[in-house]
Amino acid sequence: MDQVLSYLPPFEGLLPKWLVFVSAVSAINSIQAYCSSQYTSLLYTNGSVPCEPLSGRVFGTWTFLSAVIRMTAAYNLTTPAVYDLAIWTYVIALTHFTGELIFGNASLKGRFLSPLIVASSSIAWMLIQRKEYLGL
Ligand SMILES: *[C@@H]1O[C@H](CO)[C@@H](O)[C@H](O)[C@H]1NC(C)=O
Ligand SMILES: *[C@@H]1O[C@H](CO)[C@@H](O)[C@H](O)[C@H]1NC(C)=O
Ligand SMILES: *[C@@H]1O[C@H](CO)[C@@H](O)[C@H](O)[C@H]1NC(C)=O
Repeated sequence: MDQVLSYLPPFEGLLPKWLVFVSAVSAINSIQAYCSSQYTSLLYTNGSVPCEPLSGRVFGTWTFLSAVIRMTAAYNLTTPAVYDLAIWTYVIALTHFTGELIFGNASLKGRFLSPLIVASSSIAWMLIQRKEYLGL
């Protein structure tokens, strides 16, 4: 158990662990999006709007980039540039998800609620704790 814990980010609090968790989930989602555009369609609209295979892979590519930045941030949480990049991954995601609700290619129910909740709560959490971790 201690061995496993030693791989966790060397910072206090739940935020770095949360970033590792979300990063791992993002990476898995990214692989799922690459494997099948049906995954992306189910995520956005519970299957009612089909997803182009290219759109699914682009979603997977962008999600993987977010995963890399979030993982980097978890292990470098006191580095301002990296901390802010992680916030940006959530701001970009939330903007995109909210935009799709407006464009009608996403529906406010089922699976689509979790990325909305994760992005908005992470932004709030990271902004509230910013001073504490960066010591600014
Ligand atoms: C990021 O974290 C790793 C591991 O803790 C460390 O080796 C590296 O120096 C950090 N990089 C920055 C820019 O803080
Ligand atoms: C998806 O978005 C496009 C605009 O980007 C819009 O024309 C289309 O009607 C939307 N699809 C649905 C099912 O709402
Ligand atoms: C999602 O779609 C399935 C099958 O089309 C349906 O049974 C289910 O109720 C839908 N879920 C939501 C949250 O709309």
